[in-house]
Amino acid sequence: MEEYRPDEKRYGKIEYKRCGQSGIKLPLISLGLWHNFGGVDVFEKGREIVRYAFDNGITHFDLANNYGPPPGSAEENFGKMLAKDLKPWRDELIISTKAGYWMWNGPYGEWGSRKYLISSLDQSLKRMGLDYVDIFYHHRPDPDTPLEETMMALDHIVRQGKALYAGISNYSAEETAEAVKILNQLGTPCLINQVKYSMFERWVEEQLLDMAEETGIGLIAFSPLAQGLLTDKYLNGVPETSRAAKSWGFLKRSEVDAAIEKVQELNRLAEARGQSLAQMAIAWLLKDPRMTSVLVGASSVQQLSENIDALDYLLFSSEELEEIEMILNRD
Ligand SMILES: NC(=O)c1ccc[n+]([C@@H]2O[C@H](COP(=O)([O-])OP(=O)(O)OC[C@H]3O[C@@H](n4cnc5c(N)ncnc54)[C@H](OP(=O)(O)O)[C@@H]3O)[C@@H](O)[C@H]2O)c1
Repeated sequence: MEEYRPDEKRYGKIEYKRCGQSGIKLPLISLGLWHNFGGVDVFEKGREIVRYAFDNGITHFDLANNYGPPPGSAEENFGKMLAKDLKPWRDELIISTKAGYWMWNGPYGEWGSRKYLISSLDQSLKRMGLDYVDIFYHHRPDPDTPLEETMMALDHIVRQGKALYAGISNYSAEETAEAVKILNQLGTPCLINQVKYSMFERWVEEQLLDMAEETGIGLIAFSPLAQGLLTDKYLNGVPETSRAAKSWGFLKRSEVDAAIEKVQELNRLAEARGQSLAQMAIAWLLKDPRMTSVLVGASSVQQLSENIDALDYLLFSSEELEEIEMILNRD
């Protein structure tokens, strides 16, 4: 690939939204490297997607210690992309990583101890060739470690300068309230909760959206396309190269079969709006002012391009919203 020069017009394309009551703004669409950027994937393809993202104003790239497979390889690959392409623009990037899931053997390789979080972030920084990440997340609540210990580790990491902001992920409304309180007491406010949210996964609507507003934290939705289900990809079966067909993919064929009728109906509605289903699914999440950003995955530049174009049309009529509810609530 030729030497990278980012598009000079990259900041005219995507809107940036304040993350809760913090000083930081995130692009309405961010890019996640959970799938498609690991050791099992084609490096140059991932590199092309990352370049395209930045060229189009996506400043936020989301990773975790365990992304791959194998675990750690997405960070390694992203480190190579930084070294080859993006390093000169480091100050224009919001790079996040996380620790919480299994990363190495023994009692200190997962969950929420201070020991695990601090050593995991050190490993992540090494893999990416970075001095600091912008956001460091605790990836999932730990039922056994005192929340104070986990939050103190995040506070410590921010004070050390190894992360600029602290985040939590997969925390329920109650757990979020508790974490926000402890972090506020420590003097390192919680920036954001990264949560699974899509038309097919709506638990955050019960309490968390309100709480985010009350406590001033941001929210970023992961798997907004239900891992590809909320696109036109599975309308005619499971393509061989899709996530549902891959042995390491987290989307199961049974999930595709169970959802396909609703997907077909949603797809018809999206077409009537003049959008693809992926675009409608992204716009639907962004209609709520409490959502800061939508964190998409992509296995090609074409997919990412289509997803960014969701921003061209974010409005819904009340009839459209009602129809979506009817489709989603049908037995
Ligand atoms: N905090 C957590 O616990 C957690 C958990 C999961 C994810 N995440 C974060 O959220 C990010 C996004 O999650 P996700 O990858 O599940 O998100 P997603 O956007 O719901 O799914 C992405 C997948 O959907 C398919 N796709 C995307 N755009 C498409 C389009 N326009 N047309 C057809 N298919 C399309 C692709 O699948 P194919 O590969 O089949 O083409 C792509 O890999 C992750 O990378 C990660 O950063 C966080």
